[in-house]
Amino acid sequence: MTTSNYEATSLRDLLCGSIDASMVGRRVTVCAWVAKHREHGEHLAFVDLRDRSGLVQAVVPGSLDVRSEYVVRVTGTVARRPEGTVNPRLATGEIELTECDVEVLATAEPPPFQLDERADTDEQVRLRFRYLDLRREAMQENLRLRARVNRALRAAMDEQGFCEVETPLLWAPTPEGAREFVVPSRLHAGEFYVLPQSPQIAKQLLMVGGFDRYYQIARCLRDEDLRADRQFEFTQLDLEASFVTQEDIMGFVSRAVLDAAEEATGHRPESIETMTWAEALDRYGTDKPDLRFAMTLQDLTSAFATTSVKAFGASSVKAIRVTGGGALTRGRLDQLTEQAKSLGAKGLAWFRVTSEGLESPLGRFLSVDEAAAIGAVDDAVVGDLILVVADEHDVACRVLGSLRVTLGGPPVSEGPHRYLWVTEFPMFEGVDEEGNLLAAHHPFTMPHADDLDLIETDPLRVRSQAYDLVLNGWELGSGSVRIHRADVQSRIFAALGITPDEAASRFGFLLGAFRYGAPPHAGFAFGIDRLTAIFAGEENIREVIAYPKTQSGADLMTGAPKAITERQLRDLHVRTVPKGT
Ligand code: AMO
Repeated sequence: MTTSNYEATSLRDLLCGSIDASMVGRRVTVCAWVAKHREHGEHLAFVDLRDRSGLVQAVVPGSLDVRSEYVVRVTGTVARRPEGTVNPRLATGEIELTECDVEVLATAEPPPFQLDERADTDEQVRLRFRYLDLRREAMQENLRLRARVNRALRAAMDEQGFCEVETPLLWAPTPEGAREFVVPSRLHAGEFYVLPQSPQIAKQLLMVGGFDRYYQIARCLRDEDLRADRQFEFTQLDLEASFVTQEDIMGFVSRAVLDAAEEATGHRPESIETMTWAEALDRYGTDKPDLRFAMTLQDLTSAFATTSVKAFGASSVKAIRVTGGGALTRGRLDQLTEQAKSLGAKGLAWFRVTSEGLESPLGRFLSVDEAAAIGAVDDAVVGDLILVVADEHDVACRVLGSLRVTLGGPPVSEGPHRYLWVTEFPMFEGVDEEGNLLAAHHPFTMPHADDLDLIETDPLRVRSQAYDLVLNGWELGSGSVRIHRADVQSRIFAALGITPDEAASRFGFLLGAFRYGAPPHAGFAFGIDRLTAIFAGEENIREVIAYPKTQSGADLMTGAPKAITERQLRDLHVRTVPKGT
């Protein structure tokens, strides 16, 4: 840590971690927590002092009445450590503070867990005492990394001429498709605000309002099931621009993300490659390919075109090769088969490549050519395993894509950062129970110019001008060119089964605004929590959020969510019913 002018305050001269051998002889004052304290007989005490910059050892004449986590102000003389006591594992291990005067600023109870360790501390305890957890070096680094990422993103957007505009949190429904958090209105009995899932509509209205380059580091709220990469509250770098193409937006976002990468990792990836959605599905079995490892999907459809093996009589036959997978046990193969079935496959065929040929329950049913085709998958060698799924193209690809990640996916902290733009997403992703098409992105996404004629005739083939940014198998962000023409919008609403009345009641203010001169516009948003977690090598975005919720949506520190008083409920015109009624 380098010394900055910002370290000195009225109470201290500098931070513990910035003291070094060049200061020997200087008398300095630091303010810190007691990390460790050892008495050396009656005449000497050693105290490890910790602040946000690191540790420094203080040597105090006489005994000292302090305990771990006391807050102290220490004035001492910087001295080289005596020969043999230098600590190479500590950044300040060459020096110590001697002849120290110690003033206790605050006492402390023993902390409920050791602050210098992490692995074996129960996460529930860490979250309950998050303010103590935050003192740990790993959390300090993660949140400071996040601040640096935010700063780099802001600078990149400012430099590209974007204007930061804050949009409301008390808002109306937005079309992102997750369940919404609602807030009862006190002044309007029986009416509710909705917390925004994203600033989607607000930013499109800013385009109508003439802000042709908008961005915001925006808090978004979605009441969805929590996972390692999902929280109720999360933060996006959200942007929108007018008079632009998809490529312009991808350029703005790439610049910002690569600037943040350089700031966070010290390395700037040269560029970001692009792949169409169809190719991503075909080769990686997912719309968010992890390019850190190969194991690509191989196509065996033509090799099985005239097969007599019933299990392989499908419109698509796909395979992956698992290096060294021949050693997987029957139990493990059964688990993989269950995984395949839970994703919609009828089954999973496996083949061990041995020196005597293929070993598999299906082996004896294959023709010579079929066995040769499987044995040659992805240049297989003895000891490998080939997994085959025969099904509809989409199912075969997705199932193998999931097994590919299960069997080959490296941990988040490993390997290079492989960014990828995925373009030409389909406009619709299947149909709901009532037979209405479902929007793959959101209803304001512009169809691909070449596919406009297919909206009514072959909607599932309509590509959209929607694009995602992917990093190491995580979806970082999504965006699209928006529809700004009323005629195209009505055709999309009709395809989605949204009646004109419903459209008017849900999005009337946006459609109304578009009647007053809407510029062509496009935008994007990506998750800052996810980006920072990957930079920090963390599997769970909780590790880069100061006060996250648990998997069940609870804040263990504050106890939220909590019941409120009868009086508050009455003011809000809300009556609660017991669970399950
Ligand atoms: P989308 O819904 O794809 O697009 O969200 C964009 C990105 O936000 C992040 N994200 C989340 N991060 C943590 N927890 C969550 N619950 C969560 N949900 C989403 C992801 C995701 O890729 N308005 C559009 C963007 C646009 O079209 O401009 C939108 O919000 O990283």
